[in-house]
Amino acid sequence: MQSPFRKTILAQAFAVLFFSPTAFLVHAAEPSAASASASAQAPWMDRSKTATQRADLVLKAMTQDEKLLMVFGYAPYAELAKLDPKMIPGGKPGEVAAAVIPEAAGYVPGVPRLGIPAQHETDASMGVRNIKLERTSLPSSLATAASWDPKVSEAGGVMIGSEARQSGFNILLAGGLNLVREPRNGRNFEYTGEDPLLAAEMTAGLIRGAQSNRIVSTIKHYLINAQEAGRGILSAQISEPAMRMSDGLAFELAIEKSSPGSVMCSYNRINDVYGCENAPLLKGMLKGDWAYKGYVMSDWGAVHSTVFAANAGLDQQSGFPSDKQAYFGQMLKEALEDGSVPQARLDDMVRRILWALFDKGVMDHPVKPGPIDFAANARVAQAAAEQSIVLLKNDGGLLPLGKASKVAIIGSHADKGVLAGGGSSGVTPVGGPAIPIVLRGDAWLREIWHPSSPMKALQGLLPETRFNFDEGTSVESASQAAVGADLAIVFVHQWMGESLDGSLTLDSKQDEVVSAVARANPNTIVVVQSGGAVFMPWHKDVRAIVAAFYPGAAGGEAIARVLTGAVNPSGRLPITFPADLNQLVRKEIDGKNDGKSEGPLFSVRYTEGAAVGYKWFDLHGLKPLYAFGHGLSYTSFDYEKLSATQAKTGVSIKFQVRNTGRRDGATVGQVYVRAPQGAHWEAPRRLVGFDKLKLQPGESKKATILIDPRLLASFDESTGEWVITKGSYEVQLAAASDEVRSRVQIQLDARRFSAKRAAQKP
Ligand code: BGC
Repeated sequence: MQSPFRKTILAQAFAVLFFSPTAFLVHAAEPSAASASASAQAPWMDRSKTATQRADLVLKAMTQDEKLLMVFGYAPYAELAKLDPKMIPGGKPGEVAAAVIPEAAGYVPGVPRLGIPAQHETDASMGVRNIKLERTSLPSSLATAASWDPKVSEAGGVMIGSEARQSGFNILLAGGLNLVREPRNGRNFEYTGEDPLLAAEMTAGLIRGAQSNRIVSTIKHYLINAQEAGRGILSAQISEPAMRMSDGLAFELAIEKSSPGSVMCSYNRINDVYGCENAPLLKGMLKGDWAYKGYVMSDWGAVHSTVFAANAGLDQQSGFPSDKQAYFGQMLKEALEDGSVPQARLDDMVRRILWALFDKGVMDHPVKPGPIDFAANARVAQAAAEQSIVLLKNDGGLLPLGKASKVAIIGSHADKGVLAGGGSSGVTPVGGPAIPIVLRGDAWLREIWHPSSPMKALQGLLPETRFNFDEGTSVESASQAAVGADLAIVFVHQWMGESLDGSLTLDSKQDEVVSAVARANPNTIVVVQSGGAVFMPWHKDVRAIVAAFYPGAAGGEAIARVLTGAVNPSGRLPITFPADLNQLVRKEIDGKNDGKSEGPLFSVRYTEGAAVGYKWFDLHGLKPLYAFGHGLSYTSFDYEKLSATQAKTGVSIKFQVRNTGRRDGATVGQVYVRAPQGAHWEAPRRLVGFDKLKLQPGESKKATILIDPRLLASFDESTGEWVITKGSYEVQLAAASDEVRSRVQIQLDARRFSAKRAAQKP
């Protein structure tokens, strides 16, 4: 939705629009009954044909103006109806303005004559985001990644995809997959962590679930959109091998595992070239090496050219007038006429869009708004949160809460609700916000608290206990509330939002409040709601710490159930929590962090390359506050019988996990591999596989993991191949990246294989 970045260019956009030549003349309306039945008989509606065959058949039936309609999208700006008709495909701004779903993210007209539906686009990964529509919010994507269970993100995807469909949307702008390279990045909560394998699995789960509703999901933002400060003007400088082994690998794996209909290219430049006109990334890696068959849509305001972008591989300009000019409007038509963009390129753009619409089921199953079962959907959000909350510390087994007659609850509106992140992913809560929404800049950047009170939920679960609430805004009053209580639970929070990067230090005296409460009451528990990692200067002084991230629509209930033991925590950190700023790759964020993304172009040098997150910590022998993969349980587990054998397509790992405690519980068997000398890995170790297992007391379960060979290889830029170095590799079975429980060696032969993948299904 509208960002400050977009807003600033809006005025320029209109200035350009009104001085422009000739028009397109095609209708942008929905199909009439007559055209719908005629197109239903069309040869491309024969479902026995492949999506590629069907797309080709429609393409042949299309006029040039109809093709041009499909590569140009709109955002619902109030001024849409006033656009210069000569600039836009179809030339009917009034019809476009009338057809856009109010406050939707975007809209692309259909071609009713041929049965091609309009594309109605909505954000985002956590839920259908629309200021005017109350919808269910999942926990943040980073929270869900902490479940380390792709089935959890898939169930979430099924839910939000169904709400999208029932709200009339057929394109979901979801699938955030930028690796958490910069812990202060304001959008880390929309992404799935710092490791390429974990992030790919979790994002792929969400996309599979969403697309099971016969809609298209994107995967975004391609590529290395690792910070918000200056996102529209910065260049992410990174070597090709480092890119291929980090963010590139995450996208490659996720695309293979979920086949998203569309890839959204990012605002930033990568090695000096904008993401949406970056030929090596779009034409080369994505469509060439990975044989991606879907279409590339731009982020809103991320297009900067016509010929360059079209020839580099951009297939659809989104959200006009977010961009300065209607680059894929009249300007593209002219570029086709003068041959600077070949006709074959336009046909390819349209074929890709049509392929996605056929392959994902949009053509055969048009969306129709319908009733939404919000109670059932809230249960999906709650289940996701319950499997994602991470118990970071639990000294002396203070949790789960036992019998306490008096509990002080302090801070973060815990009597009313739970926090969400802001920006284009900020879902409007069902039943309205818990407290009035605070604007953190423009109207689209909102601080929203979902109406799910942890304190009320605790009261429901522990009816005998007396809970007292203190706002947590005064150090004195908070510590007074804690004195005399059997225990104190302090809720702290860190709001993060799109277009701004944040700080890892909690704001508004929250650290002081925790320390004062910990002094006043020896049984202090802290519940952290955050976009990602935060510093905890008081971590030694409190007895228990729970990381809830942004826990979604039913987060309060989920937190209460974890605190009381109705749910045994099983989340594991998808990111590293650094101890202090000195441990970060960059002490300061480059660029102006003012949410505007204006000013001279600049570069951010990703000198860590592929050594992102725990890999950086490993490489430099740094001890974080809490390590990647860390998370406690109310039961205990043994990790046993680790073996590794060389299989045809990779390395096969087997192990067994046993619940040695007295409660049901789940844990994640995490498999890391340590490279031998001479392998050109970015860091000593990589996560190569994981499996989350649910176990009753005394129960054992076996797991088998096949390691993808790319996770054992380095990328050779000179030949475009993955290279496995001959040598002895140490396979580690771990409960967390800093808690290795057993090790075996495996000898691997030297091997090279091409980065080019076979084409996806037709
Ligand atoms: C964001 C995208 C989002 C788009 C449409 C942009 O600001 O970067 O993630 O999908 O807006 O709302």
